[in-house]
Amino acid sequence: MAKRRLPDLLYNPMSIFGGVLAAVCLLTIIFLTCVDLFQYQPPAYIGIISYVLLPVPLLLGLCVLVLGVLRERRRRLRGEAASRLLFTIDLNLPRQRAAMTLFSAVACIVLLFTAYGSYRVFEWTESVAFCGTTCHTVMEPEYTAYQGSPHARVKCVECHVGSGAGWYVRSKLSGAYQIYAVMTNVYPRPIPTPIQNLRPAQETCEQCHWPSHFSGEKKLVNRYFKSDEQNTPWTIALMMKIGGGNEARGPSGGIHWHMNIANEVRYVAVDTLHQNIPIVSIRNRKSGEVTEYVAESAAADAGKLRAQSWSTMDCIDCHNRPSHIYRPPMRIVDQSMAVGRISPALPHVREQGIAILSQPYATTAGAVDSIALQLRAFYASSYPLIAASQGALVDAAIAELQAQYRRNFFPTMNVKWSAYPNNIGHMTDLGCFRCHDGKHVSADGRRISKDCNSCHTIVYQGTEPVPQTLTVAGLPFQHPEDIGDAWQQTNCVECHSGL
Ligand code: HEC
Ligand code: HEC
Ligand code: HEC
Ligand code: HEC
Ligand code: HEC
Ligand code: HEC
Repeated sequence: MAKRRLPDLLYNPMSIFGGVLAAVCLLTIIFLTCVDLFQYQPPAYIGIISYVLLPVPLLLGLCVLVLGVLRERRRRLRGEAASRLLFTIDLNLPRQRAAMTLFSAVACIVLLFTAYGSYRVFEWTESVAFCGTTCHTVMEPEYTAYQGSPHARVKCVECHVGSGAGWYVRSKLSGAYQIYAVMTNVYPRPIPTPIQNLRPAQETCEQCHWPSHFSGEKKLVNRYFKSDEQNTPWTIALMMKIGGGNEARGPSGGIHWHMNIANEVRYVAVDTLHQNIPIVSIRNRKSGEVTEYVAESAAADAGKLRAQSWSTMDCIDCHNRPSHIYRPPMRIVDQSMAVGRISPALPHVREQGIAILSQPYATTAGAVDSIALQLRAFYASSYPLIAASQGALVDAAIAELQAQYRRNFFPTMNVKWSAYPNNIGHMTDLGCFRCHDGKHVSADGRRISKDCNSCHTIVYQGTEPVPQTLTVAGLPFQHPEDIGDAWQQTNCVECHSGL
């Protein structure tokens, strides 16, 4: 019998099992901790695995080990024979020593590989490929739009799973339900937004975008075409007053004034997409002064509305499509024309392109065929000369419309631009005008501003495709089409639904 180095009572099957379990967990934790310490950018949740999840079986193993000891002691007190292990190892015998060495080496290697393997599985579930392609049809719209977005190099989990154990557990729970929903084919089409439990929040964005640091202005040059025969170009260049929310860095103001550094902006929305906002309240953090704005149309119900749940404004209230951008037909065609992939020399091509893209199609394949048929038929019947002489331009326009359809429309999931509002502007969705419609009034008669110069200044507008001169002082807006003062009276979205 080999010499027993450890307390005698430990030598029973139950304690050995518990001990092995605890040892495996401990080794894995040590391994993951090393990865966590030495990898340049460890995955976000490695800490939760090693410090929250693995300690559970570790403790379980230790408990089993202790229980084994207690049981063994009781047996012996009752005078029963010590439980016999099924085998004995004598390391004094050279053969057994060699076998034991080999066994330990193999076990260590297997253990390391298992730890590495489970680490890789974990890493994979955090990857973009896992989130974007595992349930291919379901996530196809988000994944496709994401790949063309400014955040194409940011992992899904970096936005969708916040840091902290609570977030991790919530995300995995809702993930489990999602797998069930996909397997039983009960998932909603389109996937509704906001997605419960996976909603990006201010903290997620702030990992990369330092909120105190926005300042100054950003130039946007928007190129449009009119829906006439010549596709008359129209360009508007805007200086967006990005601004910042940190008084220490200069006057706080501009668009990012909302970011709750010097002020807290809260509101009541009556719909899940937060498109209808009857009450907005701001509190100055320093003076504590509170101002409440109530929509004129909701003045009678203000008391009831105040009792509903309030939301605090954050990045996602404006930037709700930073990554999954489904562009409306008007923007698609204007941009493709601006860069020459659809030739403005084709008469009525803007009007036709928009009309063709905005029809409902049942499948992507059907849409792709139909786009080609319709545009060819239009030129063959209305402009036979163009169809004959400019066939190549028509073909190029068709190819571009088909490519854009694939990127922005997903008929099997019912996803397209109109499925989700985009809150960043105010032309094709209500956006900023949810509050800045000039109709939210405070008790002392102030209004949330709809002044066209409060968020941006127009530095150029006209038919020059690339503005040669800019006016820094800003120009009064001239609506490209003569519609009188309708653009001041009505919200842009009433006429511009993206078509
Ligand atoms: C830059 C941050 C960011 C990244 C990266 C990102 N998302 Fe999103 N995602 C959002 C935001 C913001 C929303 C809208 C949330 C809201 O309105 O409450 C959203 C919404 C969604 C929705 C709900 C449906 C919809 O379109 O609104 C799904 C599904 C989704 N994302 C999947 C993904 C997948 C899959 C990836 C990786 C391929 C990904 N997201 C990467 C920010 C991001
Ligand atoms: C992991 C880092 C990371 C996270 C998290 C992240 N972003 Fe970004 N974001 C970037 C980078 C990098 C760029 C610049 C991309 C470029 O210029 O091509 C960018 C660009 C942007 C832009 C400018 C886009 C444009 O068209 O110029 C906006 C707006 C933005 N992010 C908002 C957000 C919001 C809102 C969130 C939170 C939902 C977020 N970001 C989360 C890294 C991140
Ligand atoms: C009130 C609405 C609103 C809120 C809230 C808001 N933003 Fe913005 N943000 C804008 C607008 C409008 C622009 C400029 C238009 C554009 O870039 O398309 C912008 C621009 C940006 C840019 C690009 C800046 C540049 O110079 O290119 C980043 C990055 C950004 N926001 C991040 C954030 C983050 C992070 C938060 C939350 C901490 C946030 N924003 C909160 C409206 C908002
Ligand atoms: C939930 C309501 C709400 C939404 C949505 C909203 N705002 Fe505001 N905004 C406010 C309130 C309230 C004020 C402060 C009005 C006041 O007291 O003068 C304000 C003020 C501003 C100011 C002036 C800040 C200053 O004092 O310099 C700018 C610029 C601005 N908003 C831009 C935007 C832009 C751009 C968007 C859309 C991307 C937007 N806001 C969306 C509520 C909103
Ligand atoms: C509360 C802030 C705010 C106010 C007030 C405002 N705008 Fe804007 N405007 C924006 C933002 C934000 C965008 C979108 C920037 C982007 O595309 O990222 C925008 C975009 C535009 C565009 C480009 C349209 C597009 O989306 O292609 C025009 C034109 C414009 N605004 C005109 C006006 C006029 C005219 C008024 C006055 C009736 C006005 N704006 C009032 C914030 C504002
Ligand atoms: C009463 C309806 C109406 C309102 C309100 C309105 N527009 Fe228009 N807008 C039109 C019409 C009609 C055209 C010409 C459409 C065409 O040529 O295809 C047009 C054209 C435009 C164009 C040229 C690109 C295009 O789609 O033809 C821009 C840019 C534009 N409008 C911006 C705005 C902005 C910004 C607002 C809000 C401040 C606004 N419009 C409000 C009816 C309206």
